[in-house]
Amino acid sequence: MKPIQVGLLGIGTVGSGTFKVLQRNQEEIRRRAGREIRISMVADLDTARARSVVGGAAEVVSDARAVIANPEIDIVVELIGGYGIAKALVLEAIAAGKHVVTANKALLAVHGSEIFAAASAKGVIVAFEAAVAGGIPIIKALREGLTANRIEWVAGIINGTTNFILSEMRAKGLDFAAALKQAQALGYAEADPTFDIEGIDAAHKATIMSAIAFGIPVQFAKAHVEGITALQAADIRYAEQLGYRIKLLGITKRRDDLKPAAGESGASGRSGASGASGGAGGIELRVHPTLVPTQRLIANVEGAMNAVVVHGDAVGTTLYYGKGAGSEPTASAVVADLVDITRLHTADPDHRVPHLAFQPGSMADTPILPIADVVTAFYLRLVVADKAGVLARITGILADNDISIDAVLQRESAEGENQTDLIILTHDTVEGRMNQALAQMQALPTVLAPIVRIRKEELS
Ligand code: HSE
Repeated sequence: MKPIQVGLLGIGTVGSGTFKVLQRNQEEIRRRAGREIRISMVADLDTARARSVVGGAAEVVSDARAVIANPEIDIVVELIGGYGIAKALVLEAIAAGKHVVTANKALLAVHGSEIFAAASAKGVIVAFEAAVAGGIPIIKALREGLTANRIEWVAGIINGTTNFILSEMRAKGLDFAAALKQAQALGYAEADPTFDIEGIDAAHKATIMSAIAFGIPVQFAKAHVEGITALQAADIRYAEQLGYRIKLLGITKRRDDLKPAAGESGASGRSGASGASGGAGGIELRVHPTLVPTQRLIANVEGAMNAVVVHGDAVGTTLYYGKGAGSEPTASAVVADLVDITRLHTADPDHRVPHLAFQPGSMADTPILPIADVVTAFYLRLVVADKAGVLARITGILADNDISIDAVLQRESAEGENQTDLIILTHDTVEGRMNQALAQMQALPTVLAPIVRIRKEELS
């Protein structure tokens, strides 16, 4: 059978890895796919670099549209990134009847609905295993391996740069700025690390996983996103003393416990501060630093590695671990998509695996919950005056707001010191209620600095 012809748009780190892996494992991949997968055309503005990677094995052009216009090309692999030209090229490739493989999480998290609709209308596949957690086959696991399950929640370390920074902060007692500098010096963090350290990259990936786990549209705009820039070394230390590690987690969770409040119905009846929520359910979608018990496997994922925990009703908890970035790990996912398309492209489009795991006509409109309606436990650090009655006032405010305390730790004051750190772990509560309590505690004259609040998840 004649080879399936692939055109690469961009041959940087992932593109060159894809070329090398396909060449090196060509024979095994052919035996799996049923025919040869050949990169026959590459578009890159740096044609000299592209030629140095592919030699004479593929035609090199500077114009990506020349690849899309080539009738011999069956699959277009988009490795340009971003929402700009990449979006236009993906939509043009679909319109030209090409299948598309992309590692572009930003594009899919923001414009996925438009792209998948265009692909379905044209009967082509858009495959994106490389977009989430690099080499870990988490899309395959969520979409196919766990298809028997009602998925309850997904929680992942899905950004290697921030996990590296947090690991360095913990292991070496560094503050955030010093750990970031180290990550940049070692090539883990980009010169402009904003997308990573502000949690945006992780939120793109969590958004995609949320859509697949629960059969809802991709809705990046509704994700709650907090990065690690405000995290202090002191909190990492206190968390450790209490048996927790702090990880930047992407979390998406099904919530079936929401009951319409009296006289309310539907999502419009939601009230963040009271935590009363209308409608039959909702989905939490959030990225933020999170305390995780040290004994959980995911708490021990260090350095730039990624890991995703998925909890399904039948299977229980499963864990997926591996490299979330890098040339060949990401290429591993791109090539897997190429093999999938090679096997499936002749199948009736209705019989292929749906892009977002659920049939397009069976997608749910379950709302993404506002952060005030999210339920978690909390770590609080208060700098307080060390005098009689302070702890009682604070615990009183928590009690008044129906927030139950799980543990309290107070740093021993030094000789002559008249203030101390008070650390409180709470049980689960609605975030809106915690916000109310925080405002009341912050207003106390004996609370001497902004209260640090970090969410905590048991992941049990
Ligand atoms: N910058 C990402 C990370 C990899 O640090 O994990 C690509 O999404």
